[in-house]
Amino acid sequence: MDKLNEIDYDAVKSLASKYGLPLHIVFPERFISNTTAFKQIANQHYSNTLICFAAKSNPCRGAIRLAASQRLGLDAVSEYEMQAGLDEGIPPEKIVCNGNAKTDRYIDLAVSSGALIVIDNRTEMELLNKAALKYNCKVNGILRFAGMPLEGLTAADQSTASAWTKFGFSINKAENVFNYTSEMSEIEIVGISAHIGTQICDADGYDRMMSYLLNLADKIKSHGMTLKYIDIGGGYPVSYCTEDEWKLFKDKLIKQLQGNLPHDQWVSWDNNPMGFRGEYLDKKEWHGKAYWSEFPGALMLKQLLEAEYSQGVTVKDKLKQLGSPTLIVEPGRALLGTAGVTIAEVMGVKQVLGNHVVMLDMGIVNHGHALITPDMHPMSIIPDRNTDSPVEAFVAGRLCFTGDMISKVKVKLNRLPERGELMVVHHTGTYSADHFASNSCGFPRPAKIAVNKDGSVDVWRKGETYGDVFPE
Ligand SMILES: Cc1ncc(COP(=O)(O)O)c(C=O)c1O
Repeated sequence: MDKLNEIDYDAVKSLASKYGLPLHIVFPERFISNTTAFKQIANQHYSNTLICFAAKSNPCRGAIRLAASQRLGLDAVSEYEMQAGLDEGIPPEKIVCNGNAKTDRYIDLAVSSGALIVIDNRTEMELLNKAALKYNCKVNGILRFAGMPLEGLTAADQSTASAWTKFGFSINKAENVFNYTSEMSEIEIVGISAHIGTQICDADGYDRMMSYLLNLADKIKSHGMTLKYIDIGGGYPVSYCTEDEWKLFKDKLIKQLQGNLPHDQWVSWDNNPMGFRGEYLDKKEWHGKAYWSEFPGALMLKQLLEAEYSQGVTVKDKLKQLGSPTLIVEPGRALLGTAGVTIAEVMGVKQVLGNHVVMLDMGIVNHGHALITPDMHPMSIIPDRNTDSPVEAFVAGRLCFTGDMISKVKVKLNRLPERGELMVVHHTGTYSADHFASNSCGFPRPAKIAVNKDGSVDVWRKGETYGDVFPE
């Protein structure tokens, strides 16, 4: 699980007094080491790999600058993300433009700059063709596919390659798509893509997706198109707990859901079944987003490249047989997730049905994962004390609705804190700070800073003030 150990209490206190609380902190060094791990795996196993940082995971200039400094490409999903990539010097041929509802401005920018465009639907294809005529250039199009049996590997709301998704063309209609693509004079189809979803802990999901995409690659070649790219999206997981903790948590949750645990020993808030919803409890089979993986981060890339595609042929062999197209990977979480922490102040502790509930000075709009699914983040109270005695607690936010729980999973803390103490939420470098950031209840959005190895600080986003939230 590898929590950050750079959390120095005195340094955090002084950052907090300068930038306010709550505070999102990113450690670029950790991003660089995560990136290096991906590069090493790519170099060893399939060097024609383009690593594109998924900007949506931390959409701000500082994160994109950091990605550019490591010579990564960019997975953009809006004209602004894309523009920031261009402004930071990422070459357009290393920018992959995703999105299912692209605006005219986004289409214009993507086409005129010569970026790689992931084509989501037929209307978009026609607009791209027109834009190419306007700018007198060709579109480098990558067709995005979904409709594969890949549900249940992450939260349903984040499952993007199965049948119930708004993204891409159905893989069952691929032949039709290839046919009408050939009517688009200005679009050159250079690749195919799919993205399973985020936090894909089970390697089997990638194996299945690769097998669909590689079969499709054979088909596309038989249509006379040259396959230059296979884009397999992101989703490379982070382990938010150790394997033992994950097993123990699941065992306890099963007991709780079967009615065999008293309230004060519950591990999920309000008996939330999480991955054991419905029939999955009887099967004792976790379904959906998981929080521990045997293959975190770049190890998942290694695993999927070495997996068997067909008898005796690995995925990387098959890629070579296909003429070694560029393999595009779009990690977000696996690069920056473990590089970030959020610091919050404890506002108090109460008891609910015999359980400790620690209340923080932030809401789930500042820790957005919790809005989609009850995520499991490691948390600790700083500084450590030699009198510490571990306790388990749920963690609540400060917004005016009861669903505002920073952790609906009981977390282990080094001690029960008192009002005024500082809590560190680990692994919050992606999605947490931005995905659902808002001024709910009139609270300002906190600052996001990067603390470099030499201790210098870059402000990635200024903290808001009263005047920002309530301008006259
Ligand atoms: C198309 C696409 N690529 C990449 C990503 C990044 O995913 P992750 O941060 O899980 O690697 C996403 C996010 O869901 C996505 O939609």
